[in-house]
Amino acid sequence: MNVLILKLKIMMKTCFQILSFILLTAGMANAQQTLNDNYQKEKIRSLISQMTLQEKVSLLHANSKFYVSGVKRLGIPEWALSDGPHGVRAEINRHDWAYAGWTTDSATCFPPGTALAATWNPALAVKQGLVLGEEARFRKKDVLLGPGINIIRSPLCGRNFEYMSEDPFLISKMAVAYIKALQSKDVAVSVKHWIANNQETHRDSVDVQMSERALREIYLPGFKAAVTEGGAYTVMAAYNKFRGDWCSENEYLNRQILRKELGFKGVLMTDWAAAHTTVKAALTGLDLEMGTDKKDYNEWYFADPLIKAVERGEVPLSVVDEKVGNVLRVMFKTKMFDESNREKGKMNTPEHQKAAYNSAAEAAVLLQNKGNILPISFNKIKSVAIIGDNATRKQCGAGLSSEIKALYEITPLEAIKQKFGANVKVNFARGYEKQSTFKEGSNRGQSNSDNVDWKLIQEAVKVAKESDVVIIFGGLNHDFDTESFDRQNMDLPYGQEVLMREVAKANPKTVVVIVAGSPVKLAGIVNQVPAILWSWYGGMEAGNAVADVLSGKVNPSGKLPFTIPVALDQSPAHALGNFPGKDLKVNYEEDVLVGYRWFDTKKIQPQFPFGYGLSYTGFALSGFSTDKNIYEKDGIIHAKFAVKNTGRRYGAEVVQLYVSDPVSSVLRPEKELKAFEKVFLQPGETKTVELQVKVSDLAFYDETKKTWKVEAGEFVLQLGNSSRNISKTVKISVK
Ligand code: BGC
Repeated sequence: MNVLILKLKIMMKTCFQILSFILLTAGMANAQQTLNDNYQKEKIRSLISQMTLQEKVSLLHANSKFYVSGVKRLGIPEWALSDGPHGVRAEINRHDWAYAGWTTDSATCFPPGTALAATWNPALAVKQGLVLGEEARFRKKDVLLGPGINIIRSPLCGRNFEYMSEDPFLISKMAVAYIKALQSKDVAVSVKHWIANNQETHRDSVDVQMSERALREIYLPGFKAAVTEGGAYTVMAAYNKFRGDWCSENEYLNRQILRKELGFKGVLMTDWAAAHTTVKAALTGLDLEMGTDKKDYNEWYFADPLIKAVERGEVPLSVVDEKVGNVLRVMFKTKMFDESNREKGKMNTPEHQKAAYNSAAEAAVLLQNKGNILPISFNKIKSVAIIGDNATRKQCGAGLSSEIKALYEITPLEAIKQKFGANVKVNFARGYEKQSTFKEGSNRGQSNSDNVDWKLIQEAVKVAKESDVVIIFGGLNHDFDTESFDRQNMDLPYGQEVLMREVAKANPKTVVVIVAGSPVKLAGIVNQVPAILWSWYGGMEAGNAVADVLSGKVNPSGKLPFTIPVALDQSPAHALGNFPGKDLKVNYEEDVLVGYRWFDTKKIQPQFPFGYGLSYTGFALSGFSTDKNIYEKDGIIHAKFAVKNTGRRYGAEVVQLYVSDPVSSVLRPEKELKAFEKVFLQPGETKTVELQVKVSDLAFYDETKKTWKVEAGEFVLQLGNSSRNISKTVKISVK
């Protein structure tokens, strides 16, 4: 007994020592942080006090396409910005848009935003952030222009592929992970585009109208999380207007929400050429003007005109000082005054390429697999037909500002030949041809892209008949998924539907792989082909990843980050005739019913729902319970359940927790995502998972009281693996 007591005492002492050590080091870290902050404040104050007005203003506008001049005399370095968000863009000439032709700027290219979101795995966003940070530093960049986190409001928005999701919660989780990781490498992010840049049509003139509730519940949360949880150092104002004022000079957005409510202390920059005035923009909180076409940089709104505005007393000097302070603060945070301790960066390492591969592999969403024709046992077949332009198309180098000069890009055809070509005959036929062309700012190049090319189809049918299995790589390309314009419809271009139908008739063992970054109409093929895999733009490792998913080396675990409608007019903005707006105004009349919130509330059956994706194994959810039945408004719900892999392959399930408020004083979406987890399981393995939801997160935004409100009463927690496949529910009450 005595020995036991002695042992217990020793254990307690050790625990106490460990705890004291943790507290002491945490205390020391806090004290160190305060010291650093004070040092920074003092340094910033001192630098500002030594600067002339001209020098201050030189920090507030670019002096070339992507650089801002420093103040040499005071040791303030030049600021180097580069496009992201899924790779560090190749070097562009200082004074025109041509590429500089460097031989050292080929980079790692990740799958773009929708693909990253489709992994539902924030750990991959962390990896991407770290890699981008390292490559940005290697290229001596200080700011990487990403992530792009606008809500996917319409299937047609040209930039959907760069953004992440129709759901603000999923966006928040991925964005925060990405931002924290990237900034840990001493590079600032620029979260874009603040705010409501949800279409490319008239993006630089359209005025977005939305309710305060839609702003608070749908369009703002991602940005809020990016700033308050992610600690984003810079934010990029959108091109469009918001409630009558340009986003770059919007008092409500920039002073009231961004600075005051979110406590943003970083730099608010314009999108390229998105400044419109000097005085108003200066007074409403813009810090940095980037990218106008005026050749003389001194003529920019935040150059000589700003100096004059200060001299005339229209802009107080204190306002200029505030902006300079913001710029210097970001420079300090990214260690620009401490180069010897700054991340040195690395480029194109095998780890970087592995990270790009992992994202692509985990992003793939298996939409349909009738008769389990996937995975393909390549060791049991003699021949495979590979059909489609996207089997050989390299995608990394297009899309406009997010285009990447990838070090390499493995296409699906290359990967399949390389992995299986020794034993399997690979029969390639183009099947359809790219008939569109890209012309910046105009979607005219998309028209005339619906021609069915029977000659190519006949060739495809021939190889399909000669092969054991057929894989068609179709979908879109960056003539459609691109910055600067929106698509005209949701159809698969170039007569692909006809091709897919004819090929499947010739060989029923046909798998369709969709390469695209935004929803396309699949209604014409779901009943014609047994298997559909959505592989996104997969970055530089696209081919390797998709080949491994097709062969079963990788078990698909991606889930849709957006709803795929049967037809465009099911989709909220289009059902209400509010895309892309009229007379340069767009009214977000669907309000908070964006994406699945609309489909589920209006009971419209989509083609494939938000959060959906199959696996080569099976999963079962059981034992869903909460720690209490009744919660206080400041409480936290601990929801517990078990997930079992019921099949014979290793795999991952994304368990999604939605909440609904059946009785409410306002219309609430049928359900809203409040938590999720990707659970990796060996065959037969079971894991217990706990998800937490703050009761305050069940609130809606009360427009009359201008505050968040949780109404007492019943809420239903719904657990499932898509917004439409709920397998367990638990009711709780809030006091
Ligand atoms: C885009 C931004 C981009 C910038 C610089 C703009 O046209 O909207 O996302 O970062 O150009 O290339």
